[in-house]
Amino acid sequence: MHGEKRSGIVELDIDRLAFGGKGLGKTKEGRVVSVEGSLPGQRVRVRLGRVREHFTEARLEEVVRQSPHAVSPRCTHFGYCGGCRLQHLDYPQQLEAKANQVREALELLGGFAEPPVEQGVACRHVYGYRNKMEYTFGDVRWLTPEEIARPDQADRDFALGLHPRGRWDRIIHLEECHLPHAMSVEILKVVQDAGARSGLRPYTTRTHEGYWRFLIVRQGVRTGQWLVDLITSDEPREQVKVETLARHLNETFPGVTTVTHTISSSRAAVATGEEERVLIGPGFIEEEIGGLRFRISPRAFFQTNTEGAERLYEEAVELAALGEGERVYDVYCGTGTIALLMAARAREVVGFELEAAAVVDARANAELNGLENTVFVEGDAAKLLRGGPVWGEPDVVVLDPPRAGLHPDVRSLVPALGAGRLVYVSCNPATLAADLAEICRNGYELKTVIPHDMFPHTPHVECVSLLTAC
Ligand SMILES: C[S@@+](CC[C@H](N)C(=O)[O-])C[C@H]1O[C@@H](n2cnc3c(N)ncnc32)[C@H](O)[C@@H]1O
Repeated sequence: MHGEKRSGIVELDIDRLAFGGKGLGKTKEGRVVSVEGSLPGQRVRVRLGRVREHFTEARLEEVVRQSPHAVSPRCTHFGYCGGCRLQHLDYPQQLEAKANQVREALELLGGFAEPPVEQGVACRHVYGYRNKMEYTFGDVRWLTPEEIARPDQADRDFALGLHPRGRWDRIIHLEECHLPHAMSVEILKVVQDAGARSGLRPYTTRTHEGYWRFLIVRQGVRTGQWLVDLITSDEPREQVKVETLARHLNETFPGVTTVTHTISSSRAAVATGEEERVLIGPGFIEEEIGGLRFRISPRAFFQTNTEGAERLYEEAVELAALGEGERVYDVYCGTGTIALLMAARAREVVGFELEAAAVVDARANAELNGLENTVFVEGDAAKLLRGGPVWGEPDVVVLDPPRAGLHPDVRSLVPALGAGRLVYVSCNPATLAADLAEICRNGYELKTVIPHDMFPHTPHVECVSLLTAC
């Protein structure tokens, strides 16, 4: 039955938001229906579609009664752009929906009967909060129905911006975006213009031809430093065009203190490369968090909401409740942000990180901030922890894994380290729930989970949790 399509139009009330931002309601027969673009509080007419195990997908045909929480979206690209999903829902409801999703994940995927999930921590600035944007070049521009009706308009074979929702083969040539600072969009426009006039085509994974691949713009919110990384195919003869563009960006925007050129021969659509050339500046920018200064290289992970990250990390430090003589392990430590904030209060912090560039940054950051009680170890966390607490027994272990959550070996190795407290920072409630459940089967008790909304208008939510040894 699953995967089959049902037909027919039904009317229903949307009562909540699911992961990913789709509205959920129930048919008269009690079948759960998931509707893209709908909001809690709306009564909608929908066309039923594919039948999944626990719900049926449906397409929104008409809003019969508007939700009291509906607001006008700010962006003209809203509705099809893959960047935002919730601009049409008022912010308090977004926050509540995210906290509910965390609670549900812990109940349904983690098996916690009454998970200790706190109220969500709101983002102070719901627009202009992103300090990093990754824009993609494409040779098939996404067109709105109005643009399709005006065939004379626009270069349809060139675009630089974001993917439309669910369409990896198309690019929206962004005119505006309200998630980053306005200067990010100004930089984008200069690069759009230069790219379109360069005579070089965007790279496409259809034929693996073309030059321009990605544009990454990063902002040091507290330092005013900007980094632009231009990612292209490997065409040594064309490098002069990137160099000219780099100088132009630096002259037009004095805040752009670093421009790098990353060369990629990869056939995959990923914004990395095998060679990095620093064209302008030192090759990194700096950011300030919690009174410390951090250097950020083009490839290194750094939280994309500076102010939100500061509050998240403050919470992590508070939950760790460190005593002066204590040792901390920061597993998945990136450029050492949490590790260094904890080092100021601990005897010693040991950070574990896979990315060599991030480890270089972490060591440089320790030096920059005069924190000598830190050690950063490069390697795969699962392999490094296999030998037990060889860097000394930790009192606190911080875990901040990527979206996929803890590697199964890390899950089972962490309890064996014998720490009294675990602080788990997560960007994915589903993997968080499964990881917490496993850790709690191995001698820990879940004390609190605090959702932090660092990404308004998107379905993403960050959580910081505390577990203590039983
Ligand atoms: C969500 S980030 C957290 C970074 C840091 N705690 C912060 O807040 O900036 C996850 C980090 O885990 C690293 N990572 C991914 N897989 C890893 C592995 N197998 N072993 C160690 N580190 C890994 C990534 O490179 C990334 O820096």
